[in-house]
Amino acid sequence: MASILKMNLSGKRKQLYEGSSKILFEGPDSDTIIAHFKDEVTVASTNETIAVAGKGALNNRISEYLMLKLDSLGIATHFIKNINMREQLVRRLDVIPLQVVIRNVAAGDICTRFGMEEGVVLPKPIIEFFLKSTNLKDPLVTEDHIEAFGWAGAFEMEEIRNIAIRANDFLTGLFLGCGIRLIDFKLEFGRSFGHDFEQVIIADEITPDTCRLWDMKTNVKMDQEGVKLEGFPPDKGYLEIARRLGILPETSNVEELYS
Ligand code: TYD
Repeated sequence: MASILKMNLSGKRKQLYEGSSKILFEGPDSDTIIAHFKDEVTVASTNETIAVAGKGALNNRISEYLMLKLDSLGIATHFIKNINMREQLVRRLDVIPLQVVIRNVAAGDICTRFGMEEGVVLPKPIIEFFLKSTNLKDPLVTEDHIEAFGWAGAFEMEEIRNIAIRANDFLTGLFLGCGIRLIDFKLEFGRSFGHDFEQVIIADEITPDTCRLWDMKTNVKMDQEGVKLEGFPPDKGYLEIARRLGILPETSNVEELYS
């Protein structure tokens, strides 16, 4: 712990990657990474970056909470521990280059692709796979592509499907319990190597940046689309999600997260 704090204060950490919502730094050990959650949202259509005060701290806590809940069900994740308000220590994995999207209700890309109306409840949860490739604009891929091109093996894909369905069942119930509909969400996976076995585990983050979350009564978008499309005061939806999950006291506001 002391070495992590020292690294944070000195700022002399090797940056591994910077994305739209996180920066990854080398961790204190060769098999760990520090994930730093940023206060920004990027609007895909314009590539514009909007500053969202407090988002990094909220996402750090929300992801910690959801990952620990999944872990308690026996669903392994890369999360190790939060190390400060906006950073967490995670396990370094061999990343599987897929975005796994689980959909319960039609929204976003699936509506565009099939001409569906937003908000239609799907007959069953639908899992889709997208190749993580910015150059190729993250194309939709089939399991045949994934196996044939070696992005993941048949056994790994079975594991990924099983984990995705279990995580969806659990998260849908968890959010329903606090008046929120889980419309869809994205998971990423990586390989963790034990002494003589490989395990597929959940990586990245589970936050309102990677889930569509609508208020059950009003269908108001409490997630990043609320910030991007509906011009919410930036902290409103995320803060409300954290409050309803019971992560923050009723009275807290974003400023208090820093105090
Ligand atoms: P999707 O409808 O495929 O794309 P878009 O949000 O651009 O219309 O997104 C489905 C869900 O997966 C949504 O909750 C956002 C999440 N997601 C990500 O977090 N990152 C991604 O790169 C993609 C494609 C989706």
